[in-house]
Amino acid sequence: MDKLAVYPGSFDPITNGHLDLLERALKIFDRVVIAIAVHQGKKPLFTLEERQKLIKDSLVGHPSEHRIQVDSFEGLLVNYVREIRADAIVRGLRAVSDFEYEFQMALMNRRLNNEIETLFLMTGMRWIYISSRIIKEVVASGGCVNGLVPVPVEAALVERLLGKPFVSPLAEPVPH
Ligand code: PNS
Repeated sequence: MDKLAVYPGSFDPITNGHLDLLERALKIFDRVVIAIAVHQGKKPLFTLEERQKLIKDSLVGHPSEHRIQVDSFEGLLVNYVREIRADAIVRGLRAVSDFEYEFQMALMNRRLNNEIETLFLMTGMRWIYISSRIIKEVVASGGCVNGLVPVPVEAALVERLLGKPFVSPLAEPVPH
């Protein structure tokens, strides 16, 4: 039987850290659903449709494209996981600072549905300091995030936050 994982998040927008985690999840599960949460009352930079498209554009030509699905959900994550009959929730941990929030969420989800397990995977070291929030902050202040997010995301950020067309810089080597 296929093992299916749900990788939930806001993905506003998806970063290379998210993609790194996806790779790790694909090593363990047969299929992974990237599930974008529709937050009531939270105003994202990108609409749900835009976030969905940015994820799909970032995965074009991925060798395991057929094992990845992009979806969205409203309401409780555990209900969505049950509806699609997934085996587990996958979340990434970057640093100790992530732990408290993730611990709280995982235990609340367990209380809501004791059948669903949450699996934590460590993000690759090179992405340990990035988040969607910090990426948006850097771009909004005129900084370059080349190599930290997929190219379609970089373009969309520049266009949305700076209101100008994106001119691709030469790919910079990523410092470790
Ligand atoms: O990328 P994020 O914003 O850290 O992801 C958080 C997310 C979307 C996974 C979390 O907020 C969530 O699961 N929201 C759905 C509502 C829900 O089930 N809440 C109860 C769990 S605490």
